Amino acid sequence: MSASDGSQAKGGASAPTARQLMATCVAAAARGAEAVRAGEAERERLVWESKSRFDFVSDVDRASEAAIAETVRQRHPEATLLAEEGSPDVQATSGLVFVADPLDGTTNFLHGVPWYAVSVAALMDGEVLAGAVLNAATGELFTATAGGGARRAGQPTHVSVIDEPSRALIATGFPFSREEEISRYVRLLPAVMRATSGLRRAGAAALDLADVACGRFDAFWELRLSPWDIAAGLLIVREAGGVVTTLEGAPCPVAETSVVAGNPAMHAWLLRTLNGVNRES
Ligand code: IPD
Ligand code: CA
Ligand code: CA
Repeated sequence: MSASDGSQAKGGASAPTARQLMATCVAAAARGAEAVRAGEAERERLVWESKSRFDFVSDVDRASEAAIAETVRQRHPEATLLAEEGSPDVQATSGLVFVADPLDGTTNFLHGVPWYAVSVAALMDGEVLAGAVLNAATGELFTATAGGGARRAGQPTHVSVIDEPSRALIATGFPFSREEEISRYVRLLPAVMRATSGLRRAGAAALDLADVACGRFDAFWELRLSPWDIAAGLLIVREAGGVVTTLEGAPCPVAETSVVAGNPAMHAWLLRTLNGVNRES
């Protein structure tokens, strides 16, 4: 039995299809984004609570997460929710699990930079079957189902065909709290900077992945991301014809991990380049 074909699950209950799961991801992301947009007017009055060094959370993150949780509960009462603010330690390896980042790009949001998203993915027994990344500032929606392709604004989308670093635009995420990661990261930068036509640090990893999927960025890397940053984006990139691995080149898991994503040619180049620097230093 496969969870994506709508056949009977153990115990006789019907397993949701990947399309049904995607509909839930989209509905949950839309409700989360409503809460985020409602918070935009309150932005200057929001209290920034510090989770760790330079890592903030506000009532807007929590309101978005509550809306996502309610949507998931109403549609799939049997499902577990792994979400950044309320349930970050849930294991996503068995049964139906929704993985959500209620506000990806919190720092952008808190400063009024209009580039932040809600990301929701559905996993069955650890496999991502559906995902949605909704840019709450612009309304642009990215979706994918396993084996069903990726879409941007409802239309099929795919990674870029650029295969020369000198023409490539590469996205990245800076480490912001751990000193040793900052030093490690800074050693990697010159090799990528010298060889490519540009580097961007947009500030929302789910959107970085979505922008790889639709060909705006040719590749992306970050040294440490969390399951909620990447669960939906991984599927969207893969379904758009891209490749996503760890910095070691293993298939990227839905876990705390390094991430290297890109169209097949630029992913291979970036992986080689980053690992070349790692070997030399
Ligand atoms: C962060 C953003 C950022 C990335 C950080 C993430 P948050 O997520 O995705 O681009 O560089 O590693 O933690 O905290 O805004 O949800
Ligand atoms: Ca995030
Ligand atoms: Ca977040």
